[in-house]
Amino acid sequence: MAKAPPPATTRRSPLTTIESSRDRERLRTVVFPEHSDLAIAVADRIVEVIQRETRARGRVVLGLATGSTPLGVYEELIRRHQAGEVDFSHVITFNLDEYYPMTPDSPHSYHRYMWENFFSHVNIAKENVHIPEGVTPRERVVDACAAYEDAIRAAGGIDFQLLGIGKTGHVGFNEPGSDAASRTRIVTLDTLTRKDAGADFFGVENVPREAITMGVATILDAKEIALLATGEHKAGIVARAVEGEISTDVAATFLQRHQSATFYLDLPAAAELTRINTPWILEGVDWTPAMVERSVVWLAERANKAVLKLSARDYAEHQLSPFKCSIGCATRFGDGPSCPTTSGCSCSRPIRTTTSSRWAAFCASCGKTKTRSSWPT
Ligand code: GLP
Repeated sequence: MAKAPPPATTRRSPLTTIESSRDRERLRTVVFPEHSDLAIAVADRIVEVIQRETRARGRVVLGLATGSTPLGVYEELIRRHQAGEVDFSHVITFNLDEYYPMTPDSPHSYHRYMWENFFSHVNIAKENVHIPEGVTPRERVVDACAAYEDAIRAAGGIDFQLLGIGKTGHVGFNEPGSDAASRTRIVTLDTLTRKDAGADFFGVENVPREAITMGVATILDAKEIALLATGEHKAGIVARAVEGEISTDVAATFLQRHQSATFYLDLPAAAELTRINTPWILEGVDWTPAMVERSVVWLAERANKAVLKLSARDYAEHQLSPFKCSIGCATRFGDGPSCPTTSGCSCSRPIRTTTSSRWAAFCASCGKTKTRSSWPT
């Protein structure tokens, strides 16, 4: 039985996440306002899994990813290893993918990426590291892919799978068209994927056209999955993967079928999720003054009208009726005086909204917006 690694001793202040209605989300998401907290949270989880599994089984199997997104996680794991908090001697790893063809010493190879950014800095055994071989002769690729699957099974399956997401919605290199039953295989890279990689290769023409990747089914076999996404350039595809229908067009949507898959997002990457972008569409929104302001500014942009020109119909048509309904009992929203024009108006205090320089009041009963100057003093 392996000696259990020492428990992690690092303690920080609790990580902050954005909590709000997840009605539209088809899998678990965690959104971090502080970008650096994302890497810490994922590293926390990986260390927990390493310690749990090494205690229980004497080893643990991690599925690892490349790209810029997981770099912070690797840095955090290295830091903890160097602080004596986590032992990698019983860790077995399987990487998701590798370009094809690709020599392991090439600056573009995922072999080199993994050794430079992670493995060389921790006490992992070389024989425990598995990365698809980009130098496999073409006639042996099919057998090599089957052997990769066998090796994962022989190791006991992947306990924790780390993923990034490409702009096509790929996980690993499972490009649009990959189906849920796909296994490790050679694939043709999407034009957008090659374009995105173009800068690293000093020109899209130098980016390999193919890659070897774990399949969607290989990924879904993992016991736990963490997909990481950072940056506004990922916001659209993240929203599609989290809120959209499962489809072979976006491989990441298959994660919706997994019992234990979580998307770890920074705020820019989460920006197009409904709960971040237009939370007022969801039930149970807390109508804070800031939320009212955001929703009205959004509505003005959407309706292409000045705030003061918005009508009750505009509010209704853009699902802001809950906002309107709440105004009647919304004295907590502000200190505006009573609606000046509507007799029998049930709202004694119209809500105040603002654009950068102008104040307006919106009456719940008459549905009209009014400038401040029209309020009685
Ligand atoms: C490549 C990798 C993916 C990775 C993606 C996103 O395509 N094969 O595994 O998720 O890039 O990379 P980045 O994290 O740099 O945005």
